[in-house]
Amino acid sequence: MDVTVRRAPKGLRGTITLPADKSISHRSVMLAALAQGKSRVKNFLRARDTLATVRCVRALGVNIMDNGEDLIIEGRGLGGFLQPEDILDCENSGTTMRLMSGTLSACSFFSVLTGDSSLRSRPMARVVEPLRLMGARIDGRDGGRLAPLAIRGGNLKGIDYTLPVPSAQVKSAVLLAGLGAEGETVVREKVPSRDHTERMLAGMGAEIFAENGVIRLQPGRELEPFDMSVPADISSAAFWIVAATLVPESEVLIPGVGVNPTRSGVLRVLASMGARIELQNQRVVGGEPVADIRVVSAGNLIGTTVAGEIVPSLIDEIPVLAVAMAMARGESVVRDASELRVKETDRILAVCTCLRQLGVEVEETEDGFYVRGQGRLTGAKVDSYGDHRIAMAMGIAGLVAEGETIVKGAEAVNISYPGFWAELARFAGP
Ligand code: S3P
Repeated sequence: MDVTVRRAPKGLRGTITLPADKSISHRSVMLAALAQGKSRVKNFLRARDTLATVRCVRALGVNIMDNGEDLIIEGRGLGGFLQPEDILDCENSGTTMRLMSGTLSACSFFSVLTGDSSLRSRPMARVVEPLRLMGARIDGRDGGRLAPLAIRGGNLKGIDYTLPVPSAQVKSAVLLAGLGAEGETVVREKVPSRDHTERMLAGMGAEIFAENGVIRLQPGRELEPFDMSVPADISSAAFWIVAATLVPESEVLIPGVGVNPTRSGVLRVLASMGARIELQNQRVVGGEPVADIRVVSAGNLIGTTVAGEIVPSLIDEIPVLAVAMAMARGESVVRDASELRVKETDRILAVCTCLRQLGVEVEETEDGFYVRGQGRLTGAKVDSYGDHRIAMAMGIAGLVAEGETIVKGAEAVNISYPGFWAELARFAGP
């Protein structure tokens, strides 16, 4: 599907209600399934990725009811899953495949995880290696580097593991396996990655402690069910924060956004470029920091450098940050972000190609790119590369580009934000 976006004729104004956080939605279902008793999840994200998780978890014998508002999940307790009758299809979702591989490694049965062609080309050795060290028998294409992954789990032993890549998916996979292992599991991270799994497990009564990048989990305790409301997704908010910053005379309020510090690097970078972002009504909901975000437009953004420790806290927001960089004055640099090459598509290549087509001078490097901001974009036909975040970043570029921007493969937004184009239509030109 192609979507044509025209420059916004006037500022973005009003309240923008966002879909729920994707990372937290995945975890809510996977962890509730492991609890002993019924959990209720309000404001669950109903999008392709998270619905793939629901299907996989149901295939393990877990009763999940969707009453149109909440999900009610009848947890089977640790060790309570049933062997699935068929292969489990994670579709496009890396979080589903990597976290499920941890959970399934602790189950003493046979299971197979697969996904679409994008997911089948993404690196899985990062989870397969530590899970094999714990005792899981995992096979896959290319020696277990690529899905499908066939898992024979059970009889795991806790390990002390230092993450070779800053990845919350790998950290979570090891911790989920650790719940069913014998002895303590320790995960060490050199750079902090999103910590939703640790927060949720602690809230469920697990014996888990995190300090200075070392997470210790003692298995044995049954997990308590919960009643939670999923906050709005800061990764989805980022598109509107950039849009409202760039389109003159904008003023928007985005209520109830998760602003966990391991996720909110985008706010710090935009502020350093001159964006006017205010966090209001800060509170804690279900163990996660939440705020209402108010954004007013800011002229004359300045270029910036994104590198080092901040990268994992904004990795998914780099495509839309690149649009802000293109509209800023001066040079911007993204470094230390080679993980972008193994997302739903190679996002370094995709961002550089799209921005070039929009008339921007960019230079691709191994682990990032340079953008020479000129304060303007020229509409063009660009491709989503089947990647939801590229599609949405290009939609926002279209709101500020001169003329028309056509986004090919626009349906990719259904992965995390099915209502994105309808929301954008409120603001785009006729
Ligand atoms: C996610 C972690 C990140 C992120 C992805 C979701 C998660 O991936 O890019 O969109 O929910 O744990 P990595 O863990 O591979 O960095």
